[in-house]
Amino acid sequence: MPAPSMIQQITDIRRDFEAECAKIHDNRSLEQLRIRYAGRKGKVAELFKSLGTLNEDDRKNAGRLLNELKQQITESLAAKEKAFSVSVESESILDMTLPGEPRYAGRLHPLNRVLREIKSCFHHLGFSIAQGPEVETEYYNFEALNIPHGHPARDMQDTFFIEDDIVLRTHTSPVQIHVMENQPPPVQIIAPGRTFRRDTPDASHSPVFHQVEGLCVDEGISFSDLKSVILSFAHYMFGSDVKIRFRPSFFPFTEPSAEYDFSCVMCKGRGCRVCKGTGWVEISGAGMVNPAVFRYVGYDTEKYTGYAFGMGVERLAMLLYEIPDIRLFFENDVRFLHQFG
Ligand code: DAH
Repeated sequence: MPAPSMIQQITDIRRDFEAECAKIHDNRSLEQLRIRYAGRKGKVAELFKSLGTLNEDDRKNAGRLLNELKQQITESLAAKEKAFSVSVESESILDMTLPGEPRYAGRLHPLNRVLREIKSCFHHLGFSIAQGPEVETEYYNFEALNIPHGHPARDMQDTFFIEDDIVLRTHTSPVQIHVMENQPPPVQIIAPGRTFRRDTPDASHSPVFHQVEGLCVDEGISFSDLKSVILSFAHYMFGSDVKIRFRPSFFPFTEPSAEYDFSCVMCKGRGCRVCKGTGWVEISGAGMVNPAVFRYVGYDTEKYTGYAFGMGVERLAMLLYEIPDIRLFFENDVRFLHQFG
């Protein structure tokens, strides 16, 4: 078989190169392809060598075609190389092995965590949950709780007035009135919610804060029932080492009234900065429902007695999590919030 003509060989090499080149996907095989076709001993170089065997006319013609082929191969190899370097770059942008950017899942706000604990405790003790409005009439916020106009107790709870006799509630105690107006005894509720006072914010004051009210009314309810419920609550929240104490106090809606303290959970009662060296931290007020309040809601004061108590949710959360400043709860700083799972 006669040797294929030079032109035929050039055409074959071009076709083979194109087919092979299309299949190349990495730099190493690209380099091998370059050596085989465009290297010093490659197919194109071989053909250049054999040009000498041709007559002058054919040599001129084949030389031109060969040069074109060489250039074409060089360009294809360069284009391929460039394509690889671009895809290597984009690979580094899209490196699938890098760890993903974490998306932080939402968490419960520390106040909601504590609120859940409080609710769960009182649920176990047989209390149900009641709610009342945050915008109250003066009647519910003060009057029906036996805090008449001009009473000094109103000063301690200065608040935001919406209109002359409509206020942002200063405490959750008005929910007691709503509940008793709507149902006869027995009553056994807690009322968690947001409360407001015209306070300048500092480490222990915030114009918006949260309370949980408690109310229990039935025949034969006594102060010892109140004490046992508060003791169970203290143990549930802070462990069974915690002690409680009641100090005589005054609230217009309870008689007798008390303030109740827990033994300091930080220093176990030895005395520290949190309890100001006393070994006790004040939680809130409590007492036996004043018969004057029963009269406002039409309960039989001869038949029924009851106890009521309040508590500050921020206060409890600060003690539980050792939070030094109440403002942290409301600043929405994720560095703070992420510490509570
Ligand atoms: N409402 C009172 C306050 O915000 C707390 C309180 C005291 C609630 C005595 C009660 C109670 O139910 O009996 O200061």
